[in-house]
Amino acid sequence: MSELEQLDKVIDQADNELAEINDLNELQQRKANYLGKKGIIAQAMANMRDLTVEARKEIGMRSNKIKQALEEKFEAKRKAIEDAIINKKLQSEAIDVTLPGVNIPVGGIHPLNQIIMELEDLYIGMGYTVAEGPEIETDENCFEKLNLPKGHPARDMQDKFYINPELLLRSQTSPVQVRTMLEKNGKPIKIICPGKVYRRDADDATHSHQFMQCEGLVLGKNITLADLKGALLEMAKKMFGEEREIRLRPSFFPFTEPSVEVDVSCGLCGGKGCNTCKQTGWIEVLGAGMVNDNVLRMSGYDPNEIQGFAFGIGVERITMLKYRIDDIRNFYTNDVRFLNQFKEVK
Ligand code: PHE
Repeated sequence: MSELEQLDKVIDQADNELAEINDLNELQQRKANYLGKKGIIAQAMANMRDLTVEARKEIGMRSNKIKQALEEKFEAKRKAIEDAIINKKLQSEAIDVTLPGVNIPVGGIHPLNQIIMELEDLYIGMGYTVAEGPEIETDENCFEKLNLPKGHPARDMQDKFYINPELLLRSQTSPVQVRTMLEKNGKPIKIICPGKVYRRDADDATHSHQFMQCEGLVLGKNITLADLKGALLEMAKKMFGEEREIRLRPSFFPFTEPSVEVDVSCGLCGGKGCNTCKQTGWIEVLGAGMVNDNVLRMSGYDPNEIQGFAFGIGVERITMLKYRIDDIRNFYTNDVRFLNQFKEVK
C-alpha cells in the first residue's frame, strides 16, 4: 500500500474508533494516537524524508488536510460526549414542578390549651394578667394560707399527692393567689392562673389524677359579688354562646366567704331541661366566692381596705361541655384521631 493510500485509511479507522468512544479520557488518548507527537500523522510526516520532492509535497498537503479533518472529528466528538454528560445530569436533577407536594404532618394545639388560650384572651381583654406558679407546692401555700390549717376537716375535699409532709403536687391553682398576694404586698390584684393540678382520684370518665384549672383573683377597693358575677357571665358567653345565663348557688370553700357554685344555662335545651342538664336547665361549671378575710390577712391584706373575689374554672369541664366530650380520659390518652378534630390545619 502506498503512503497515500495508508493516510486515506486513517480517516475511516478514526471514524470507526470514534463511534465506539463515549468517555473523555479515552477520547484524549485516542486523539494522541493520531495527532500526538508520536502519532500516526507525525509518523507519516517523518517517513517522508526519503521521498521525492513531488511526493513529499503531495503527502504533506494530504496529511495536513487529514490532520485538520481529524482534529474536527475529535473536537466534535468531545462536544458530543460533554453534551451527553450535561444532558444526563440535567435529566437526573430535573424537578417536575407539577407533581403534588409532600404533605408534612404538623401538630395541633391540644384542646385544653386552646381553651386556656381562649380564657387568657378573654381575661387579658378585661385587664387581667396571667400568673403562674410551681406544680410542686408547699402545704403552707396550698392550704394553710388558704384558711385550711393542718388537720382541718375541709382538707378532705381533695385527695392529694404528698411528696413529704410539707410538699405536695398542688391539688388546686389557688396557691398562685397566695404567692401573688405575698408578692403584691397589699396592692390591688387582677390575675388568672391557669395550670395543671393533681389529685389522688381513680381515673374514670369524669375524674383524672391530673387536670387543669384556671383560677381567677381580683382584689381592690369596693369589689363585690356583682363584679364576680360579671366576670363569670362574660366567660360563660364567650365559651358557650351569647345567649347563656349564669346563676350562683350558695356553697362552701374554706378560702371564700360567701362561697358560690356557678351554673351556666344549658346550651343543649336552652334551659328547658334535658338529659345533659338532668332536666334542671342548668349545668354546674365552677366554684367561686369573695376572698375570706382570714386569707387576706394571712397574706398581708387588710380586709377593711381591700376586698375581692376568686373563682376556679375546671378547664376539662368547660372543654367537655363546649365540645360535648363524654370522657375526660380522651384528653390524656393522646389518640390522634381525637386530637386531630381540634386541629385548625388538618
Ligand atoms: N380551688 C377550688 C377547687 O379546686 C376552686 C375555687 C377557686 C373555689 C377559687 C373558690 C374560689 O375546688
